[in-house]
Amino acid sequence: MATVTAIVLAAGQGTRMKSGLSKVMHRVCGLPIVHYGVAAALAAGCDEVVVVVGHGRAEVEAYLARAFAGARVRTAHQEEQRGTGDAARVGLAAVGEDAARVLIVNGDVPLVQGDDLRRVVEGLGGGDALLLALATCMVDDPTGYGRVLRRGRSIAEVREHRDLESDEQHAVREINAGVYAGSLRFFREAIAALVPNNAQGELYLTDVVAFAARAGRQVVAVNLGADVLAGVNDRQQLAEVEAVMQSRLVRRWRLAGATVRDGARLDATVVLDRDVTIESGAALRGATRVARGATVDVGCVLTDVEVGEEARLKPYTVATSARIGARAQIGPFAHLRPESDVGEEAHLGNFVETKNTSLGKGAKANHLAYLGDGVIGDNANVGAGTIFCNYDGVQKHTTRIGAGAFIGSDSQLVAPVTIGAGAYVGTGTTVTRDVPAEALALSRVKQENKEGYAPKLRARLLAAKQAKTAK
Ligand code: UD1
Ligand code: CA
Repeated sequence: MATVTAIVLAAGQGTRMKSGLSKVMHRVCGLPIVHYGVAAALAAGCDEVVVVVGHGRAEVEAYLARAFAGARVRTAHQEEQRGTGDAARVGLAAVGEDAARVLIVNGDVPLVQGDDLRRVVEGLGGGDALLLALATCMVDDPTGYGRVLRRGRSIAEVREHRDLESDEQHAVREINAGVYAGSLRFFREAIAALVPNNAQGELYLTDVVAFAARAGRQVVAVNLGADVLAGVNDRQQLAEVEAVMQSRLVRRWRLAGATVRDGARLDATVVLDRDVTIESGAALRGATRVARGATVDVGCVLTDVEVGEEARLKPYTVATSARIGARAQIGPFAHLRPESDVGEEAHLGNFVETKNTSLGKGAKANHLAYLGDGVIGDNANVGAGTIFCNYDGVQKHTTRIGAGAFIGSDSQLVAPVTIGAGAYVGTGTTVTRDVPAEALALSRVKQENKEGYAPKLRARLLAAKQAKTAK
């Protein structure tokens, strides 16, 4: 393609979202709406993207800088939201003279992909013809969209729903998808000529169509599939768009060799390897990656988690910013908080919580434990009910457990503390001092048995109760 600059219109407030968050920052499959238009423009081969920002500008700019660092993405500031025509004017002012062609994309149509945009630009044909290509869709229900009105076979104008004048116009099912391509020169001319002549008193970008037609220039319609155009104006449409995006993602991973059950939810940023199984009700978010053969069972919620090959995450495992090694087994009902690093073949069972803790290969904590700020060696075994007492109310401290050590059930390890390799901590021990390698640590009181004492104890307790009720 010749030098093409994309302008993504993303300054609107999105009043119909009824939200404190600007519309384009609402998420679809984990990414803000604005992400999709920018990514599609880059995927289409645009040399540069100018994003017109306004509402929630700081947030949008910060996001774009982070998500598109290193790409040629800039922003232009539309101070007052005076309509899509005005937004395009602001964007155009930021486009360098070296751009031959301009692609303008509404920032609220996240289902539009790179290929769609490329087709619109290609609609302009070769050479330097001064014409306009417009993405259109045939839809069953055109309510709310701008209608493509034709005179004979040529496009005469795009008219907004609220400005329609007849039943005949209302019945038009060909609508404007909000993607336009033309030469820089054409857009400069056409946008300079815009006037607010509509119910809203706004500058309509769509009026460039009538401008081109009036000047006797040809306007080309590039027909895109009906599901492509869906714009997000309110939260119902947000949900509809997300459903389409979700089914696209799921289909893509299924065709790539993953079993993804209906009802699993995947962010657009998630990566699945072959032969993984993602069960229904699992939610995989952010930078989560699942390696070959791993299973993520019903109800798991994984955010930025790396799951190793053949690992098994049993139902209702919740993990955030965690790494799970190959063939490890987690859950059911385990909670891996940030910076948990579970080694190969390690096991974390039900009601185990970890935070900033690493487990070596084959280490196990199978039941009811809190493992915070720990370093657990290979094949160590942490018994049921063990607590790492990592917090003294002021600072966090580390618990270290050497390879092959055994921590008996119901022990408290008061950090900072180190249990040596192969050491044995007796059940119910409160460990406050380091335990040398291969040592046995015991802190519980010695057990005493009083023969025949139970009936006497019961009689005494009963007498006490009767004395109380007699009063
Ligand atoms: C627009 C089109 C309509 C088309 C539909 C497709 C116009 C006048 N109408 O309608 O023909 O069928 O898209 O989805 O263009 N924006 C700004 N600054 C502004 C106003 C809007 O940046 O001052 C941005 C918004 O953030 C949004 C995009 O432009 O991303 C479209 O604006 P919106 O108000 O949603 O236009 P629609 O009414 O949907
Ligand atoms: Ca819209």
